[in-house]
Amino acid sequence: MSKYLNYIEENADRFKEELFELLRIPSISAVKSHKGDVHTAAEFIKNQFTQIGLDDVQLFETPGNPIVYGAYLGAGPDKPTVLVYGHYDVQPPEPLELWETPPFEPTVRGEDVYARGASDDKGQAYTHVKAIEAWLKTEGKLPVNVKIIIEGEEEIGSPNLVPFLTEHKEMLACDMVLISDTSMFDKDVPSITYGLRGLAYMQVYVQGPNRDLHSGTYGGAVQNPLNALCEIVAKLKNEDGVVQIPGFYDDAIDLSDDERAESAKLPFNEPGFKESLGIDEVFGEKGYTTLERKSSRPTLDLNGIWGGYQGEGAKTVLPSKAGAKISMRLVPNQKPKKIAELFADYVHSIAPKGVKVEVEEHHGGNAAMTDLNYYGLQAGAQAFHDIYGKKPLFTREGGSIPIVADFKNVLGANSILMGFGQNSDAIHAPNEKFSLVDFHRGIKTSARFFEILADHKPA
Ligand code: BES
Ligand code: ZN
Repeated sequence: MSKYLNYIEENADRFKEELFELLRIPSISAVKSHKGDVHTAAEFIKNQFTQIGLDDVQLFETPGNPIVYGAYLGAGPDKPTVLVYGHYDVQPPEPLELWETPPFEPTVRGEDVYARGASDDKGQAYTHVKAIEAWLKTEGKLPVNVKIIIEGEEEIGSPNLVPFLTEHKEMLACDMVLISDTSMFDKDVPSITYGLRGLAYMQVYVQGPNRDLHSGTYGGAVQNPLNALCEIVAKLKNEDGVVQIPGFYDDAIDLSDDERAESAKLPFNEPGFKESLGIDEVFGEKGYTTLERKSSRPTLDLNGIWGGYQGEGAKTVLPSKAGAKISMRLVPNQKPKKIAELFADYVHSIAPKGVKVEVEEHHGGNAAMTDLNYYGLQAGAQAFHDIYGKKPLFTREGGSIPIVADFKNVLGANSILMGFGQNSDAIHAPNEKFSLVDFHRGIKTSARFFEILADHKPA
């Protein structure tokens, strides 16, 4: 066995303990009161970069959360340069009462570790840190040049990373980007993701009367903002799951016939999918399969809606205001800004009389696609094959990593999305988990990838 693989075996327990230490830090980027924790996580990463022997380790402060950088450039200009990207920030853990064990006390059950951020993305990002360590501590070098950035704002749309890319274009110059922040197609079915969706995230406020009203005294005589909001929401999609916003699909690139044929060959188990979610029927845009709907078609979904009385018993009240959070997942060529404008125009045009409607835009991001012929994908596939014992599938996924499109636009680099997570990891939900078997295999796959890549010339 090569020295680096041996090292990964011998240090497997320590690697887990270190990951658990990182998982104990509640680095929630969406919540301001966690700023201190976010910094603690960034410092942890920085210390790791130093300890494993990376050069030029720096913690860059931004107007938001820090970006941590390290590099190994000893392979020389004849070898490719890989930029590894990951994020140490996590989603809020609420609702807390649904967690079987506390979100920031990593707990092992079976082969999995349960904690917020275990899969998304601390566990996955950490595989590369340990792969780099394995090379540097056994061979004193890496077979390729490696740069690594781990940021703290992915879950809030990476607002400070785009300007950072532009400002540090030279420092970040690379042949390709390596990212583990996606899922495998299924348990023990590795995959490389070549397409991600984009995002436009909107908030709608509906204001009615200047105060809550008795629903008997006033009901029927004034517009109820909650009813008005429901009317608006009901007009966003039709019963075939088709988004009704004029122009919404105009720029969207549809699946090609070839892609549809390839997608149909994937070993997707629809009954198992329904069973795992506890649903009797799937639902989505007419004319598309479940896999196509959840990865390659644009969508619109409510993420939250509020207004009126939610407490125990019945309170007869007509609320003065209501609101909703709505996400639209986008496909290549749809522009988040344009979609946000189309959404706002449409919502205003269908707003019932008697209420004031305001639309606000949250973060967004472009969809991304890597050409399937890109040699980096083939190197990634070889690495998966050598460690998992099978070739990965090539898939598109429905989630978003907004910076992937910017890596292409700003640095001219393709991304290789080598996911070690599983769809059942419950990312963004209670009881998030990550398989420690895949953590271990992930470290090996990353380390092997560097080795395979050394024989490839940059394209
Ligand atoms: N790891 C996810 C992205 C992801 C999830 C890709 C599932 C593929 C499959 C990432 O951390 C994430 O959650 N991204 C956000 C982006 C948003 C905040 C701009 C998302 O997709 O909601
Ligand atoms: Zn996430």
